[in-house]
Amino acid sequence: MKKNIVLIGFMGTGKSTVGKILAHKIAYEFIDTDREIERVTGLTITQIFDNHGEQRFRSEETVMARKVSEKTKKVISTGGGIVLRQENVTALRSTGIIIELSARPEIIWQRISRRTHRPLIRKEMDAQVIAEMMAQREPYYQCADYRIDTSEKTLVQVVEEIA
Ligand code: S3P
Repeated sequence: MKKNIVLIGFMGTGKSTVGKILAHKIAYEFIDTDREIERVTGLTITQIFDNHGEQRFRSEETVMARKVSEKTKKVISTGGGIVLRQENVTALRSTGIIIELSARPEIIWQRISRRTHRPLIRKEMDAQVIAEMMAQREPYYQCADYRIDTSEKTLVQVVEEIA
């Protein structure tokens, strides 16, 4: 039985915001893998990247993917790169319906360039760089059962669609 709803997708597609509202609506608990990693390690995502490197973050992410996959009745919002490791995809697929949120690169850039807390994003980037990063990630997001383009949709519309 599929016990959870797992949100995957590129940075800035609204996974955490949508996940929180959705969880409330369907009376599931909400988990954000990045926030859980921060809680468990006592470090921010940026500190993990800066002080220990991306691979350490990816390892923490794998531990967390396994951990959240054991749960039930959860809406699980994931970091944009969780799909890069096949073992994470296998764990998440076994536990829930996977929904990919997507958006056009210009819209993603608009959303994420305002806030700079993401270690993989730098101010001097632009929508073109985002488009290239998205193209590299694209094959990894194919593991989703459903895909929702959030570019022209409000949060409420996206939540309704999933619910
Ligand atoms: C990452 C996405 C981030 C966070 C980390 C790495 C990625 O999460 O996990 O900075 O590799 O795409 P969001 O997708 O919530 O921004």
